[in-house]
Amino acid sequence: MMTVNQIMGDSPNQIYGNFGKRFFAWMMAKSSGTYDKIAGERKRSLFANLQGKVLEIGPGTGPNLPYYPKDIHWIGIEPNLHTHSYLKKQAEKLNLNIDLRIGNAEWLDAEDNSIDTVVSTLVLCSVPNINYTLQAIIRVLKPGGRFLFLEHVAAPQGSLLRQLQNRISPIWKVIGDGCHPDRETWIALENAGFSSINYERFDAKLPIVSPHIIGIATK
Ligand SMILES: C[S@@+](CC[C@H](N)C(=O)[O-])C[C@H]1O[C@@H](n2cnc3c(N)ncnc32)[C@H](O)[C@@H]1O
Repeated sequence: MMTVNQIMGDSPNQIYGNFGKRFFAWMMAKSSGTYDKIAGERKRSLFANLQGKVLEIGPGTGPNLPYYPKDIHWIGIEPNLHTHSYLKKQAEKLNLNIDLRIGNAEWLDAEDNSIDTVVSTLVLCSVPNINYTLQAIIRVLKPGGRFLFLEHVAAPQGSLLRQLQNRISPIWKVIGDGCHPDRETWIALENAGFSSINYERFDAKLPIVSPHIIGIATK
């Protein structure tokens, strides 16, 4: 039986404390517009046909809310309490009903086989345990339910960018609230046990975290 610490590793909360978490929440709120200029169109088509119960892991300050159809039942699971007030304001502005919970993606606070779609944008790079997270997602999805993801990932092995990502990773994790710039997220996704996965790569033209994947995995 693994302990919580073995599963989660160092919690960013332990590293930064309250001030750090507040700062990251503020940074996320400030920078989401810039990222949406890069990925907004892709998000729009990824989220266009959402319906029923949608669970978003790590929704941060709520940059995805404007892309969602109004009639979905949205549940968000976000460990950084300081993001919650930004997200709630955004939901109010958009007139969206939300159910925002504090928690971790590794232990999703949702019943087995109960969710139509799970969403993750820029979260699989940050979760302390990606394999536990993917198993939790599969557990809560209804049979045939879909996992929509948009994530930055490791550059190809042996590339200059990959060497840089590997070197900078220990510092990046500290300054980036637990983010791993060199995570081979697509391998974890392919091995998680979804019945099918479709994704494509694109270059977001950002420093360090340019390589991205966007796609859909079906339970
Ligand atoms: C880079 S931010 C992305 C926020 C938002 N999804 C977006 O697209 O802008 C990473 C988010 O993942 C959250 N996070 C970190 N560890 C997590 C975990 N174990 N479970 C769920 N969310 C987590 C962070 O608090 C943060 O809100």
